[in-house]
Amino acid sequence: MLYNAVIFDLDGTLTDSQPGIYACARYALEKMNVPIPDDATLRRFMGPPLADSFMRFCGMNEEEATQATAFYRERYIPIGWKENRVFPRIRALLHHLKKQGIYLAVATGKPQHTSIDILKYFGLYDYFDAVAGPAPGDLHANKADLIARVLPEGKKAVMVGDHPGDIQGARDQGIASIAVLYGYGENDELIAKEPTHVCDTTDDLCALLCPDMPAPKGYFITMEGVDGCGKSTQAAALQERLTQFGYTIHRTREPGGCPLSEEIRNMLLDTKNSNMCAETEALLFAAARAQHIDQVILPAVQEGKIVLCDRFVDSSIAYQGGARGLDRAWVKEINKAALGKGAPDVTLYLRMDPETALSRRYAASTPDRIEQMGDAFQARIQAGFEQLLQEEPQRFLAVNAAQTPEQVTEDAFQALFSRMLEGGVL
Ligand code: TYD
Repeated sequence: MLYNAVIFDLDGTLTDSQPGIYACARYALEKMNVPIPDDATLRRFMGPPLADSFMRFCGMNEEEATQATAFYRERYIPIGWKENRVFPRIRALLHHLKKQGIYLAVATGKPQHTSIDILKYFGLYDYFDAVAGPAPGDLHANKADLIARVLPEGKKAVMVGDHPGDIQGARDQGIASIAVLYGYGENDELIAKEPTHVCDTTDDLCALLCPDMPAPKGYFITMEGVDGCGKSTQAAALQERLTQFGYTIHRTREPGGCPLSEEIRNMLLDTKNSNMCAETEALLFAAARAQHIDQVILPAVQEGKIVLCDRFVDSSIAYQGGARGLDRAWVKEINKAALGKGAPDVTLYLRMDPETALSRRYAASTPDRIEQMGDAFQARIQAGFEQLLQEEPQRFLAVNAAQTPEQVTEDAFQALFSRMLEGGVL
């Protein structure tokens, strides 16, 4: 271990604040009726005081810039700060450094209270021994002062940052520095400061600070529920939220998920195939799944990705077993090939009564062949899922899907995130 104290900058080093900053700047400019500049210009909003950027890049006078800043905060305070993204592998790095007894701190130019809120929201705060950022009104705190506030005595410390000021601050305090090139700093300006080390990616940073860190752990999440329970909306929202929390997600669905299985999907859902017998239907779902797991799911999990799959074997048991009346044991049997390669680590069940779900589904678009089967069929599907939940309560996380979509996402995410942390999925 090269260092036993690591001090991190926040923005551009641990988290990427760009999505929130861009969204709030766009919001403010729309409210001011000022044309929105291109992304290259918006990028220059990262770092300097906001009012200066509004004057410099959007031709505003001081009064207008003050108004625009107020509009920016109108969105940033309730929403924008949560639109950060934890850089991939940062959570695992902090976890492993902490486990090895390394002292960890943050020294950031972002106000201290906002920084603590961000670290808490993203579940990172508990890894740190100290956090230093400017207090309200403390406009002149420079990086060297902030580092001094968290620098422990008698340890070999290093400062990690994406900005030339981080490297200079480390030098002023007589400690080593690591310049990370994945943040917002201009690379040549950073290199010109002669940092002790340079890391292109978070993988490089992990290799340098924690060489024996294990490879990322893959994880297989499935989502289930009756037709119309809102799974697709929730899958998209969960993908977004998990990405914000630093996970690399591969989202997929069944039937489908790869070209051959998509072809089988077309056969299965085509309303022309109304004479398809239940056994054929079950075998086609199983065939599509065998290909999907082999070609897509398993390789992604082996690469350390989080796979988020809309439906899996449970659907076959609930639909072809429960609702079509096929023998459940046979349905499990024909899915053994797929399950043998990768059973879900966790299954999120969106619980909704079938009548509400189906009326939502019918209101959205024309139902497919299976959705046309009606209320009694949907009730049997739900009973099939409920039976599975009773059989394997430890695998399922049930969420009340009759709430607002935002609340469903919140509940689902919190349940999933806790389960992932418990399983060491960082
Ligand atoms: P889709 O349009 O993907 O619906 P949803 O968004 O509800 O998943 O269509 C898939 C349909 O196929 C859906 O009605 C559920 C059904 N299905 C089965 O009957 N068995 C299965 O094994 C799977 C995966 C899906």
